[in-house]
This record gives sequence, structure tokens and C-alpha cells, in this order.
Amino acid sequence: MTVSPKDAVLELDAVTVRFGGLIAVDGISLTVEPGARWAVIGPNGAGKTTLFTTVAGERYPTSGRVRMFGRDVTRTPSHRRARRGLGRTYQVTNVFPRLTVVENVAVAAAAAAPGRLRFWWPGRPDGHADETLEQCGLASRRDHLAGELSHGEQRQLELAIALAARPRLLLLDEPAAGLSAAERVLIRDLVRALPEGMSVLLIEHDIDLALDLVDQVLCMDNGEPIATGTPAEIRANEHVQAVYLRTDGDGEAEH
Ligand SMILES: Nc1ncnc2c1ncn2[C@@H]1O[C@H](COP(=O)(O)OP(=O)(O)OP(=O)(O)O)[C@@H](O)[C@H]1O
Ligand SMILES: [Mg+2]
Repeated sequence: MTVSPKDAVLELDAVTVRFGGLIAVDGISLTVEPGARWAVIGPNGAGKTTLFTTVAGERYPTSGRVRMFGRDVTRTPSHRRARRGLGRTYQVTNVFPRLTVVENVAVAAAAAAPGRLRFWWPGRPDGHADETLEQCGLASRRDHLAGELSHGEQRQLELAIALAARPRLLLLDEPAAGLSAAERVLIRDLVRALPEGMSVLLIEHDIDLALDLVDQVLCMDNGEPIATGTPAEIRANEHVQAVYLRTDGDGEAEH
């Protein structure tokens, strides 16, 4: 099914990000439809996280356009994109360690709610916060300090924080990074169980995990889009295979 641009959740048009002489993102164009699941793959330094920061509005592109939920947001600050329905988790775990688990989720929900910023501290837990914790497998940790959780549980909490605001578009930057095999399975199941209508962009170095979770893939190398397609097309793509042969298979370049 083709989706007209006005229905797309996200449209990137030739997005380029330069850091001085380095082109970190080089002409990426992408259309994300409602409910679509995309993986963004590529070796270390390919520009995946920089692309996410541009989608999130934490950094504006050097050139190119970003449209989200039918509006041009190329120079719209990140908090406004969040209010309109963008959620994000970070490559490095990012929770409030001295708040409890449920407070972390409640604060995130309150901060995203328009007009309620005045009451944002301390976030008052409501039913939705508890539902989100349940969904993310953290109900039994509800009243623990976030800083006391294991690394795997902190990644689950990050996901809960992002879901608290009920995003329409969710960016996950290596949600399973540094986790044990059992914890990775948990994250995989959480991502798989996300609401059907939610569009997801996932950065993940474990190709098998990534391709198992998505229906579309963008492969980047040196900032450039080297292939887009279904998981099967990406596995069969010679250019993608060449990029991954150059590396040790998990995206780390061999030296
Ligand atoms: N703030 C910055 N200032 C200067 N250069 C940067 C900055 N952020 C990223 N870069 C550079 O841009 C390129 C892309 O980095 P980015 O973090 O987007 O890659 P990545 O694909 O997310 O890599 P990884 O898989 O290791 O997380 C790299 O060469 C990186 O060193
Ligand atoms: Mg990264």
C-alpha cells in the first residue's frame, strides 16, 4: 500500500548533518508509514544515532527537510516534537536514579502532557504509569529507586519512560545494548508487543535481533543510505554483505 505524504508519520528528505569537515549523515530520505517497523543498521560511526538526534530535534540538519505527523519540523525543538507524539530512548541509559521506578514513568507522562507542566514535579502516578510498568515487566520494581535496578531493568525502565507519553513514533537506540541473552529476549518481546499503530525506528547491532522485529530496514555506511528494503532483501543485498564482511558481524570494525 502506498501512503500519501500527508499520512506519513515521518518523512526525511535528503537529510544531511555535517560536523565541520565530517559528513555524519549524508542525504538520507525515508518515509515511515503509520504502524511501520524500521530497523536502522550499519557499522559503528555510520551515522545512525546522529540521524535519530535529527529526527528527535536535538540537532537540526545542515540541509534537507524533516516532516513529522504531516508538518515540517526541520527546525522545531525536541520538546515540541515530543508533545506531538515522538518518543525516544538513548544509546546510553538515561533515567533519574534517585526517583522510584513509578516516579520516573509518571514524571515522563506529566512532562509530555500539554498544559500540565506546572504540576510536573513530583509526577503523580496514575493508572497509566502502572499499566506501562506492567507492560515493561517492571510492576514488581514499582517503588524501588531507579538507580538500584540492574542494567537490564534500567533499559526496560527507559522503554517505559518513552511509552509513558503514548508516542505515535518511537525511536529506540540500541535498547538491548550490553544486555545478557535472557535480557535481550525480554526487550525483543517488549518491542514485539508494542501497540500495532505505533511506528518504530530501531537501531540495533545484532542483525538477527533487528531483522526479526521489523518489516523495513535502512542500512547506512559512512552516513550514506546504502540499501533500504525488507529484511529478506537486506540479507540478500551484496552491498550490505560487503559492509558487514568488513566488520566482525556485530558492527565493530576490525582493525
Ligand atoms: N557531536 C559530534 N561532534 C562531532 N562528530 C560527531 C558528533 N556526534 C557524532 N559524530 C561523528 O559522526 C559520525 C557518526 O556518529 P554516530 O554516533 O551517529 O554513529 P552510529 O552509527 O550511531 O555509531 P555507533 O554504532 O557506534 O553508535 C562518527 O564519525 C562520529 O564520530
Ligand atoms: Mg549510535
